Amino acid sequence: MTDEEYYEFIQPYEDAKQMLLTRLDVLNHNLYGEASARPIHNIQCRIKKKQSIEEKLQRKEKEPTVMNAKDYLQDIAGVRVICYFVDDIYNLTELLKSQSDLIVIKERDYIGNPKPNGYRSYHVIVGVPVYCLDGMEYFPVEIQFRTMSMDFWASMEHRISYKKERTDKEQLKEELREYANMLVEIESRFEQYNETDHQQEKRTAEVKQSL
Ligand code: GTP
Ligand code: MG
Repeated sequence: MTDEEYYEFIQPYEDAKQMLLTRLDVLNHNLYGEASARPIHNIQCRIKKKQSIEEKLQRKEKEPTVMNAKDYLQDIAGVRVICYFVDDIYNLTELLKSQSDLIVIKERDYIGNPKPNGYRSYHVIVGVPVYCLDGMEYFPVEIQFRTMSMDFWASMEHRISYKKERTDKEQLKEELREYANMLVEIESRFEQYNETDHQQEKRTAEVKQSL
């Protein structure tokens, strides 16, 4: 694909990504009501570079054309949402999925079911409606929800070994799994300080008492 084709092709993905960022921002402000309890620590996002699109299509044994990119790739637009607590992730995804104009294209809960290597994250690919002159079309955005510790592990693992050939792979695998388990342990210890949890429990208790 030419540079011109690429830039024209990614425009609606850019728009879809932008719309989703706004939705996430609104959820972040409103989820628990209090500013000190906002669920999102930070958000990163990217549009896949021309070269990465071409390389991924080649791996899938497809011609590197914009048509194929549209048909075979669902991670042209990517958003990574880094949260404080695991509960935040489930609360955010539930609310996002309930927004009636978005469609859920694919969902993978690698928190409930971590990958064998220890990777944890909640992936959801949503279709975001983009309106142009000739009507509406859904464009996919891949969202990865992670806690800070999931992101720490995944970033380090990506740096060290993801899709790379190494000779000490078996030992490294073992070590990475061990670190993943240690991080789950640390994360669960922090859970006791999750005030939103306590506040919600308190609120539920209050409601029950008043009945
Ligand atoms: P890709 O074709 O690689 O995009 O994967 P997939 O279509 O099988 O989907 P999956 O949900 O497994 O992974 C999508 C994305 O999640 C990847 O592009 C990575 O950003 C991230 N990811 C998945 N598995 C791992 C992992 O083991 N380690 C790290 N660091 N990231 C991962
Ligand atoms: Mg990908």
